[in-house]
Amino acid sequence: MRAHPSIPAPDLVLVASDTFGTSLLDDVHRGLAGQRKTLPAKWFYDASGSELFEAICELPEYYVTRTEMAILSRHLDEIAATMPPGGTMIEPGSGAGVKTRLLLQASVPATYVAIDISRSMLELGAAQTARQFPSIRVVAIHADYTRLDRLPEAVDLGDAARTLYFPGSTIGNFTPEETRAFLGRVARWLGPTGSVLIGVDTKKDRAVLEAAYDDSEGVTARFNLNLLARLNAELDADFDLARFRHRARYDEALGRVEMHLESRVDQEVTVGQRRFTFRAGETIHTESSYKYAPAEFRALCAGAGYECSNTWTDAAGAFAIYRLVRSASATTITPHRTGDGT
Ligand code: AVJ
Repeated sequence: MRAHPSIPAPDLVLVASDTFGTSLLDDVHRGLAGQRKTLPAKWFYDASGSELFEAICELPEYYVTRTEMAILSRHLDEIAATMPPGGTMIEPGSGAGVKTRLLLQASVPATYVAIDISRSMLELGAAQTARQFPSIRVVAIHADYTRLDRLPEAVDLGDAARTLYFPGSTIGNFTPEETRAFLGRVARWLGPTGSVLIGVDTKKDRAVLEAAYDDSEGVTARFNLNLLARLNAELDADFDLARFRHRARYDEALGRVEMHLESRVDQEVTVGQRRFTFRAGETIHTESSYKYAPAEFRALCAGAGYECSNTWTDAAGAFAIYRLVRSASATTITPHRTGDGT
């Protein structure tokens, strides 16, 4: 643990560096070497990628953010009331968004814990939150939250009730199997009395889903292609963005929207000393965005040891916010293990 000198506002910044198992370069080399090329969606969010994502959230076709926001505003008091005052709110992924601010304002936890893979986004968000909510202790953890088994010991959260806030259908980037594993891991951050507030996109018409990921202004295309620009900038790669095109398609059987970058021509690209060949029409699978019918999502959570205590949706059922608590049968999982197995 070390305090970060450049941002006095947040309580502290922890570097949980043991979670950084793979670097961008590792992921790119591994992802492009296979038969079917793929890159992890978590790398979309450099400064331009985050800006483009903000723009996506404003698009008429991208109903996700606006619908979740409407549900949250409409049921804010009821949702906030599930978080006892004096508790802890934990948010994986860059917080400081409008929804987070709304919820912090309504629930006023004693502590807000932000966890993010991008140090700059984390610092920005944590500083902003600390400035806006002087009464809330803001803790920033620099970590890959998908690999974080437990919260660093130095983060002393005491016994106050903990709520994980995971909005935006970010969970949709995980496969159902990864979702189950993630929720299981999160249970160890939360302890037996913790709960989860999670926003999840629902299954709906193909046309609506595909438009949401392939908007008429081409913002989502720029967001997708920005990943290649990032590889050029950070890994000294030589992708020609004009030789790739954005694709988005709903795979109904898998229940997910897939984004791809499709090579327009036969070509070779170099990334950090290694060369990768692309045939015309070959794609890099850059993101999966899973969609769940409410019953389906609740069943998935049950498999991870959670019971759904509340479901909030809009009138059309385009999006849902769930509150999950540990099922009685699941709380026997040891929240704090001492390590020797005896
Ligand atoms: C932030 C992962 C929820 O999958 O809808 C938006 C990202 N990608 N448009 C989503 C995204 C293309 C978004 N998540």
